[in-house]
Amino acid sequence: MTLSLEGRVAVVTGGSRGIGRAIALELARRGANVVVNYVSSSGAADEVVAEIEKLGRKGLAVQADVANVEQANHLIKTAADTLGQIDILVNNAGITRDMLIMMMSEEDWDAVIDTNLKGTFNCAKAAVRLMMRKRYGRIINITSISGQIGNAGQTNYSASKAGQIGFTKALAREVAGREITVNAIAAGYVDTDIWANVPAEAQAAFKDMIPLGRTGQPEDIAYAVAFLASDQAAYITGQTLAVDGGLAMY
Ligand SMILES: NC(=O)c1ccc[n+]([C@@H]2O[C@H](COP(=O)([O-])OP(=O)(O)OC[C@H]3O[C@@H](n4cnc5c(N)ncnc54)[C@H](OP(=O)(O)O)[C@@H]3O)[C@@H](O)[C@H]2O)c1
Repeated sequence: MTLSLEGRVAVVTGGSRGIGRAIALELARRGANVVVNYVSSSGAADEVVAEIEKLGRKGLAVQADVANVEQANHLIKTAADTLGQIDILVNNAGITRDMLIMMMSEEDWDAVIDTNLKGTFNCAKAAVRLMMRKRYGRIINITSISGQIGNAGQTNYSASKAGQIGFTKALAREVAGREITVNAIAAGYVDTDIWANVPAEAQAAFKDMIPLGRTGQPEDIAYAVAFLASDQAAYITGQTLAVDGGLAMY
């Protein structure tokens, strides 16, 4: 199979639903054994694991709040202890708490930065330790167009997503000597639960701006992750790949 991930072990944070679920299944389809992290949806995570096992791969659901350093360490340790190694880390877990800045609470700011940005740091730090020893690794951070062009009502989310892009570049430089690549995918508008609280008019306005004329599906992001996770992407690091239907062009 081209872009095979046979024998690899992947950890997908927030793998129970939406984009993370599609990533976990695509990596398994390409041959990887996959750890499916979640914070509260144990039933959904178990379903993803069952689908991974139907594909003939090993799957494991691990509950951990990535914003919490002890829980993030537990996730990575459990993954390595159970499946033997970690080759691929996908920092996908993310939340929104949208509000104009005048009404945004400190709690809403902290929750988004802690989950999206600190969670990326927590998991990457724990995984890099293992990858350095193995002299191999693929870290893929799921960021957003909001971190590139900004979005009114999302100062917390845009800051967290822009932070992931800077983090990606800095870490890519730190670990390049150990054959570990670090890249980001800037997703556009993808049909998942994360849009549930966004007013219909705002959703329609976004859709109208997409050159390819449709919203993204979780699989659109998963295919790009599978490529960046593959051996064929060995010479790509520190990059942010936009998968957004052409919404942001640089
Ligand atoms: N959908 C889009 O249009 C879009 C666009 C750009 C970027 N993104 C990014 O893509 C990623 C996935 O988004 P999505 O749309 O698939 O979201 P989603 O459908 O709301 O799913 C979020 C996932 O993250 C998990 N999660 C949330 N907080 C967590 C925490 N503290 N620790 C561990 N897991 C946690 C959830 O677990 P539970 O199921 O247990 O709650 C769930 O699996 C996010 O980073 C998001 O910012 C999405």
